[in-house]
Amino acid sequence: MAEKLLEIKNLKQYFNQGKPNEVRAVDDVSFDIYKGETLGLVGESGCGKSTTGRTIIRLYDATDGEVIYDGVNVHDKKSKKDLKTFNQKMQMIFQDPYASLNPRMKVLDIIAEGLDIHGLVKNPKERKERVVELLETVGLNREHADRYAHEFSGGQRQRLGIARALAVNPEFIIADEPISALDVSIQAQVVNLLKELQKEKGLTYLFIAHDLSMVKYISDRIGVMYFGKLVELAPAEDLYNNPLHPYTQSLLSAIPLPDPNYERTRVRKSYDPSVHNYQDGEEVTMREITPGHFVYCSEKEYVALKAVSSARV
Ligand SMILES: Nc1ncnc2c1ncn2[C@@H]1O[C@H](COP(=O)(O)OP(=O)(O)O)[C@@H](O)[C@H]1O
Ligand SMILES: [Mg+2]
Repeated sequence: MAEKLLEIKNLKQYFNQGKPNEVRAVDDVSFDIYKGETLGLVGESGCGKSTTGRTIIRLYDATDGEVIYDGVNVHDKKSKKDLKTFNQKMQMIFQDPYASLNPRMKVLDIIAEGLDIHGLVKNPKERKERVVELLETVGLNREHADRYAHEFSGGQRQRLGIARALAVNPEFIIADEPISALDVSIQAQVVNLLKELQKEKGLTYLFIAHDLSMVKYISDRIGVMYFGKLVELAPAEDLYNNPLHPYTQSLLSAIPLPDPNYERTRVRKSYDPSVHNYQDGEEVTMREITPGHFVYCSEKEYVALKAVSSARV
């Protein structure tokens, strides 16, 4: 049985709470992340993926709920020292490698920022050597250390972003659409690099993406979000072969495949939330349909999904 690194319990992040413009960006979301796995998180733009990641890593205080990291609720941590330790364990890689790296800073200083903050190097020589080592880890080299971020291509910048995240030896990395801004030809390279690093260093990833095409290659399990709710969570293969929530089915139907026969018959399904016809007071929650495969549904839907699933086996 895999060990849990993170437990996210009933997490809520409401912006402008109680005001007319309240946004329930994350609305009662619960899931676990196991040590060494990649959990993919997908859903269309605005559904709350980044907010989930940012709240987990404590860039935002949670409106409600818990984030338990290695048995400790991170939103309870108060002392500066605790926070610092925790910040070192969790790092984030951002979508836009153009915006997230200061163009006026040398690569050396960008990557060494975490080393400096956490006092991980003793002198300038050690600092430089550690940065060079990190550059080599992500497929760059010593010469790059003295250049500025604006001199790099998108793919190279994302490598810099990865090197910067790795600098403090984190255990857990949230990659928030790390390849969305890159050319398709470069995307696979960055995904492969992340995979190699994971194997080498035993990292755990939360990998955020807006569609289901790339996450398949990196995720062990995938969660699907819709308007602040997690609507389905399953092992990756299971989610692709046997999507149960109609929203997941619609996301999957949107992926083009390089197969003309498939493309000719591909039917784009749209998702109409009114199909659920939930009644007032009806409990809608994540329920386990087959082992490890959870769907956000009512009791009535659960019974129907169970029947369909057992007929399939
Ligand atoms: N700081 C903020 N203040 C107010 N609303 C926000 C803020 N950040 C995000 N939102 C809103 O929360 C919702 C979820 O946003 P986000 O988490 O960025 O979605 P995603 O990453 O899935 O595209 C959106 O409606 C967005 O407009
Ligand atoms: Mg986002």
